[in-house]
Amino acid sequence: MSDSLQMKSPPESKRGNWTGHLGFILAATGSAIGLGNIWKFPYITGVYGGGAFVLVYLICVVIVGLPLMLAELIVGRRTQKNPVGAFKNLHKKGSLWQGTGWLGVASGFLILSFYSVVAGWALAYIFKAIAGFEGTAEQIQAEFGSLVASTGESIFWHSMFMLMCIGIVIGGVKRGIERWSKILMPSLFVILGGLMIYGLFFTHGGMQAVEFLFKPDFSKLSAEGVLSALGHAFFTLSLGMGAMITYGSYMKRGSSIIRDAVAVSILDTVVALVAGIAIFAMVFSYGTEPAAGPGLIFQTLPVLFQQTGPWISVPFFVLLTFAALTSGISLLEVVVSYFVDERGWGRTSATLVMGGTIYLIGLLSAVSVWKVPFTSGTGWFDFFDVLTTNYMLPIGGFLTCLFVAYVMKDADRADEFGSRGLLYSGLKFFLRYITPIAVLVVILHGLELLPFMEYGN
Ligand code: PHE
Repeated sequence: MSDSLQMKSPPESKRGNWTGHLGFILAATGSAIGLGNIWKFPYITGVYGGGAFVLVYLICVVIVGLPLMLAELIVGRRTQKNPVGAFKNLHKKGSLWQGTGWLGVASGFLILSFYSVVAGWALAYIFKAIAGFEGTAEQIQAEFGSLVASTGESIFWHSMFMLMCIGIVIGGVKRGIERWSKILMPSLFVILGGLMIYGLFFTHGGMQAVEFLFKPDFSKLSAEGVLSALGHAFFTLSLGMGAMITYGSYMKRGSSIIRDAVAVSILDTVVALVAGIAIFAMVFSYGTEPAAGPGLIFQTLPVLFQQTGPWISVPFFVLLTFAALTSGISLLEVVVSYFVDERGWGRTSATLVMGGTIYLIGLLSAVSVWKVPFTSGTGWFDFFDVLTTNYMLPIGGFLTCLFVAYVMKDADRADEFGSRGLLYSGLKFFLRYITPIAVLVVILHGLELLPFMEYGN
């Protein structure tokens, strides 16, 4: 395509568009709500002591998450392109800013490879829940270890999850992603609502859970906790890798970007809090530890599910799988949109080839005995997780923020935002001075370079 044509959007039929506003909101909340909300948020809240951590996390969503989400949506909707094409389009051909898009596509690739392994565990646990959890607490907890250690089982469930993602993304923006988001997200809200009601009114731990999450005790808050809250705000809102650029690129002009970004951020946050209430209500009612760590939902909850029975446990793991699926498809879509827009591949071949490649890379994470060469036994899973969550996403977010704040033309940015009023000035202020500094602190912490933190060697 010649340069002069680049600012025009390609024909809608080829790239696809959401059918309307609701389609976008459900797809974007589907991307945001994922394992981050239901698996990670409750367990890190448990580890970092509850209320005070939650408060810091909420502040981070507002000062870092929301401005960055707006920045990504502005870039996406303006250019109607994948992340690489978007930066090229707004700057110039051969621009180094395209590197930000490349980083995003690479992040999507790597995150999905290990995300799919955890999602596979969720899928496996639906069937374990149907069969019922039996035995002593130790035996039930040990089952998780044996699932992770069993190469055959891990690969099987990873394959199933990747097949589901590929099957949906192949269908395209409207008939794949949007259609499935419209089925999966409302189901997710209903299941979650049910679990919350159960937690609040049918267990003895409801009030304790609410107190744990909402009553801040600042003596429990560490600097480490603050940084985790900031890092998590990123991951949970799907920021820093162009997922929101890509989903924004399928939006039609005319709707208010700020209203959409606020809606997605609020829904994501509410789901994390409600999942927290449901989970901690059960944890407290059986007198178990909130600080169990990553095993909280795969080890601690199954022991409690022995008492509740399958009516609670099966919906819980279905919820987890649905949440993971709508996030998984957004990760795959970022990669696919790049090959479709920039390389001229058909959607079907891009999805099959890239989905297949991500699947193969995911095998490294699925087989827990395979270790990263030249390390003292670091597994691939942890390696990819740390590489993407601690480095690639924050760096991608930092660059996107600088681009929109300092490089993008004011006319383009304001036009896409829809006004030049107070809100717009506020956004500019945050993108220039607040958000990048906050994100830089996360990056430096990842590199263990913050002077006021103690890093063991
Ligand atoms: N937001 C998703 C979650 O909370 C993860 C994700 C990150 C998805 C980045 C897409 C892009 O689980």
